[in-house]
Amino acid sequence: MVEIELRQEEFELFRSYIYERVGIALSAQKTTLVKGRLNKRLNQLGLSNFKDYYNYLIADESGEELSFFVSAISTNVTSFFRESAQWKWLESYLPGLIASKREKKIRIWSAGCSSGEEPYTILMFLQHHLSDFEQWDIKILATDISHKVLSKAIKGEYDAKTVQSLSPDMIRKAFDKVQSERGESYQITYHLREKVMFRLYNLVTDPFFFKNRFDMIFCRNVMIYFDDPTRQELIGRFTTLLPKGAPLFLGSSESLTSHRDTLKLIGSSIYQRL
Ligand SMILES: C[S@@+](CC[C@H](N)C(=O)[O-])C[C@H]1O[C@@H](n2cnc3c(N)ncnc32)[C@H](O)[C@@H]1O
Repeated sequence: MVEIELRQEEFELFRSYIYERVGIALSAQKTTLVKGRLNKRLNQLGLSNFKDYYNYLIADESGEELSFFVSAISTNVTSFFRESAQWKWLESYLPGLIASKREKKIRIWSAGCSSGEEPYTILMFLQHHLSDFEQWDIKILATDISHKVLSKAIKGEYDAKTVQSLSPDMIRKAFDKVQSERGESYQITYHLREKVMFRLYNLVTDPFFFKNRFDMIFCRNVMIYFDDPTRQELIGRFTTLLPKGAPLFLGSSESLTSHRDTLKLIGSSIYQRL
């Protein structure tokens, strides 16, 4: 592989484009990361310098290259039942939510859902804790900016290592065992998969098109890359979609310094709409 240099002025082009399009604030220290992670891509595309790659990136109207770029410089790391304290908290919150419902209808948004472990965890959680789960109309909106992770999420197929932390009972109820090229794997049942609407969605630049509000919103480990104004803007938009009392879940390393009049910290990176 040919090692291609990233010049400072080229890095600046990527920096302002990525900030404008995705809200990710690339600091100057990220030059080596961008160069290292994108070198292979330039070689694959037969490009000899980063300026040509920049032109290729901005000319791609499908957004696929942008999503490739974002995946290359950020992380899609996720897992089932990530942030265990939040699921524990949800166990105590759920009975009140259920009791408050006139219609058996639950709507949840998993914003920045990566390869699907988060929205499927929500379903497994509800399946486990609602004795009349089948009678509920449950829909999870699961969105991400990356085509790659979304196609994995839609398939809902995971290897044995990824599901190993789940109880045998959960695995039995939520997965079908399937044979893939890499041996035996576990696919979320069709019945659960059809409750999730996966959508390609950029949290920073796409319009908020939602007609109805959500019973809760998960946006965990996504805003870590955003700068403060972008984060505040997004949080403000989330609050408009949450009814009074509804929770917003952030990643455990994320906290809010704004919106104290509309959101109150009530658990481990869990904020309640006031
Ligand atoms: C580290 S993963 C977090 C997955 C999951 N929420 C969790 O906590 O396990 C972050 C995800 O955010 C997505 N992401 C980053 N910037 C985004 C943006 N502007 N709009 C939508 N998704 C974005 C990434 O593609 C990635 O899949």
